Amino acid sequence: MCGIFGLTTNQNKPIGKIALEGIKRLEYRGYDSCGIVCQYESQLLVKKDAGKIEEINKRLKLDEFPSDSKVVLAHTRWATHGPPTKINSHPHLDCNNKIAVVHNGILENFIELKEELQSKGHVFKSETDTEIIPHLIEENMKTNGDLKEAVVNAIKKCKGAYGLAICHADYPDTIIAVRRESPLIVGIEEGETTYCASDIPAFLPYTRNCYILEDDEIAILKAGTVEFYDIYNSDFPKEKQIQHIEWSIDAAEKGGYEHFMLKEIYEEPSALRRTMKISSDSLKKFAEILLSAENIYITAAGTSFYAALAGKFIITKFLGKYIEAIECSEFKTQLINSLEKNAIIIAISQSGETIDLIEAVRWAKKYQPSARIISITNIVGSSITRHSDNIIITQAGPEIGVAATKTYVTQVLTLALIALEIAKLRKIEKEEEIQKYYDALRATPEIIENFLEKNIELIKFIVRNLEKNLNFFFLARGISIATAKEGGLKLKEVACRFIEGYSAAHAKHGPISLVREGYPIIFIAPPDETYERLIGNLMEFKSRGGKIISLVVEDDIKITNLSDITIRIPQPGDMYHSIFSPITFIPALQLLSYYAALEHNFDPDKPLNLAKTVTVH
Ligand code: M6R
Repeated sequence: MCGIFGLTTNQNKPIGKIALEGIKRLEYRGYDSCGIVCQYESQLLVKKDAGKIEEINKRLKLDEFPSDSKVVLAHTRWATHGPPTKINSHPHLDCNNKIAVVHNGILENFIELKEELQSKGHVFKSETDTEIIPHLIEENMKTNGDLKEAVVNAIKKCKGAYGLAICHADYPDTIIAVRRESPLIVGIEEGETTYCASDIPAFLPYTRNCYILEDDEIAILKAGTVEFYDIYNSDFPKEKQIQHIEWSIDAAEKGGYEHFMLKEIYEEPSALRRTMKISSDSLKKFAEILLSAENIYITAAGTSFYAALAGKFIITKFLGKYIEAIECSEFKTQLINSLEKNAIIIAISQSGETIDLIEAVRWAKKYQPSARIISITNIVGSSITRHSDNIIITQAGPEIGVAATKTYVTQVLTLALIALEIAKLRKIEKEEEIQKYYDALRATPEIIENFLEKNIELIKFIVRNLEKNLNFFFLARGISIATAKEGGLKLKEVACRFIEGYSAAHAKHGPISLVREGYPIIFIAPPDETYERLIGNLMEFKSRGGKIISLVVEDDIKITNLSDITIRIPQPGDMYHSIFSPITFIPALQLLSYYAALEHNFDPDKPLNLAKTVTVH
């Protein structure tokens, strides 16, 4: 949450414009206020305000700074301490307006530190935790005047999570970047410009060469160079490996689509095709670990958790062992007395930075050192990769829309590929049978392409038809409960409708009492072993006046005849395809949410109150 961008250069660059574009690419991390500080002739020039970046830019001309200034920091905020106001926007400065700080994270001991600094005469303007940092650095600089040492000593006093970028009016070419728990990446154009950012797409138009900061590392950025130190051993610089990022900049641009969410739904087929090529060695390694395990857990948050629910179902079919799915925020509480030795924990996260997940796996390793963490993430070098014994990187490419779409299908696909590796190793299925499952998986991109080509008008018609409804049920059985929950989450987050994604069978134990004439219920109905029973559930809702909208396969007859509207997924109605329906059915619900957001005048890329990466508890 919150996006940081900074650069120092020796070139003549429009640094205000670059910084503005940088934070726009990070806007998915938070969008309730923003600010830019530029260093110019031993002064710090600040522009900041509450609101979305584009609105503030219209008022303040965020890109207009003196053309010969060489250092800039920028920030887009998701408020934690203090409401989104101009005063609480970043950057925050010290008493003399010499030190500027932008921050992503939360300082836990800010109240004590603030009282200590106030007793020494420091005056605070905002309600934020961040503001203590420039004052702490200012206080430390009274001792020997060295900026790096003052930052190191300030950081040693701070508890909590932070990605920080700092500049000083009297250090004309320097940015200091520090991290603990909140991500921070340094990008470099050798000899010319050095960048720092919360995420790679922010500087992707300029460089693909970067360093990923680890916890308790500090980077001293100068124009075109960078040095790294450990906070707790800061006398000598340390070596770090440069990384080359393969992502193309097109992936982080809207490319003619009105919104990232729509573009990313249309990118699902290509994301799936790339993910299909994940090395079979790493899939096999995961399969072997799961085969040798006695106790297996799968954990994640939000959409990644629903991918976990679908994946757990597919893996269990071929593994023949129970896998317990636990939301990562509940992981420790639920397992504090029972996590077994040698337990295997599958951790799933698009960003690899979700703090509740990082805490869960860190706790698991501490509580049971023999536990093994195997992770699936979309981001190379993200925090989860440092806490994992084995990693698979999904190949969705950068996802900018706050609502996870293409990353969901690649997560389910990755879990399905692991399941098929298990099937091969266990040899419980005949080789030809396994090949039929592979064929069905390989067909998923084309099924989605066909669906997208032919169904947009139908989806828009359904959205208009349901325009007046505020509440919905998404009901399913078996593996499709994951689809119902994920589809429901999408509609909630982008269109602000209330949806209960629920088991169709369980819904008669209470939720059914809400149903009246015209109450919309979407049934997720692939032709699997739950199909006949689902018809019974559908009838229970239909006979109480529910408006039935069903997601079925192309040649479906029975549920189609019972429904008011059907959305038909162009896939064969066999068991090989049905088990992968979480991948092929979800685009329909993602699109429904997207067009519902437009219908109700919400920005689907920036849902209210949300940020894409949740790095606070
Ligand atoms: O980066 P992660 O996959 O760990 O994020 C988990 C959730 O915060 C995320 O999936 C969230 O629910 C999305 N906004 C859903 O669209």
